Amino acid sequence: MLNAVLSADLPDDPPWQDVQVREYLAETMPGERRISWVAEDDRLPEGESRVFAHVNLLLLGDIGVLEVLVHPGLRRRGLGREMVAVAARRAYLEGFSSLGVEAIGDTPAIPFWQSLGFEREYVETRSVLSLSTVDWLALGEMARGISSGYRVEYHPGGPPEDLLEAYAQAKLEAQTDDDDLDLAPRSSDPQRLRDSLDTLHRRGLKPFIVLAIHEKTGVVAGLTEVVVPAQHPQRADQYDTIVVRDHRGYGIDRAIKARMLFELRAAEPNLLEVQTWNAQHNESMLKVNAELGFQSDRDWYEYGADVAQLVQRLEPTD
Ligand SMILES: CC(C)(COP(=O)(O)OP(=O)(O)OC[C@H]1O[C@@H](n2cnc3c(N)ncnc32)[C@H](O)[C@@H]1OP(=O)(O)O)[C@@H](O)C(=O)NCCC(=O)NCCS
Repeated sequence: MLNAVLSADLPDDPPWQDVQVREYLAETMPGERRISWVAEDDRLPEGESRVFAHVNLLLLGDIGVLEVLVHPGLRRRGLGREMVAVAARRAYLEGFSSLGVEAIGDTPAIPFWQSLGFEREYVETRSVLSLSTVDWLALGEMARGISSGYRVEYHPGGPPEDLLEAYAQAKLEAQTDDDDLDLAPRSSDPQRLRDSLDTLHRRGLKPFIVLAIHEKTGVVAGLTEVVVPAQHPQRADQYDTIVVRDHRGYGIDRAIKARMLFELRAAEPNLLEVQTWNAQHNESMLKVNAELGFQSDRDWYEYGADVAQLVQRLEPTD
């Protein structure tokens, strides 16, 4: 069903393989819960039908995050709306006051969420880099173009235990610069970071980290994180890239991202592309991504709604 949805809405995205999909859906961070419903054909015994639609409710600290998928052959019959009604009612009963959702530009999700009264709260642009277009010679220059006084380190699997504190500190400093709605809050204390890495591994998401260490102080001056999902190992996801404010202007962003691409090429022979999401106002990062060869793909929105109002709106009227 997911692959049918992908080929209808995001035809250039790689299809998912049936590898660790259960874990991807079921595993969460400690303290979080994900509740899922599927719509099936009620003429068949439970579990024997194809899945017609799917809704996920991820319950984070104080916000619920929805994901809804309806098979392309069964759209515009009210199924999506019904799935949201079920999940919204549950979020309401669980005491949540707001719901967030990611909606992809140029797909039916935009008019769908708007029709339910969701409001646009944030926009990012997704860009995709095809490794076949990378100028590896120029990339080598970028990787070496970091000012003296910094050391670049590569850590497949995640930062080592002795760097977790410094790593968390860099994430914490970046958080104050960020106005994202935080549907995926950053892990900015060492224990949360450990939990987050462990959760990634359990969900089949393999993390790769490149760090810039400021040699004089030992602080993490910059970091970049890429995850290769077992479900679509040909396309990796760029997570955070952070250069701590005091260390900007020394070539760190270019150097760590360039080094990451060399490491990924060596470690993941099936990898073809890397995708990343950036706020449109983040001009310096967009510039570096353009130099690396990232091509902007489409807009990615976060929408939000008040749970009580949503439940009321979705009450059957007859
Ligand atoms: C968004 C989605 C869940 C809607 O499911 P659906 O079952 O078709 O939605 P509903 O029939 O309940 O539609 C409810 C309302 O939303 C609006 N809407 C839904 N699809 C629309 C479209 N293509 N154009 C305009 N309005 C639309 C309409 O107002 C509709 O009411 P109406 O049919 O009475 O006019 C479905 O299109 C989907 O699964 N999209 C993919 C989502 C996604 O994230 N894809 C990419 C990542 S894998």
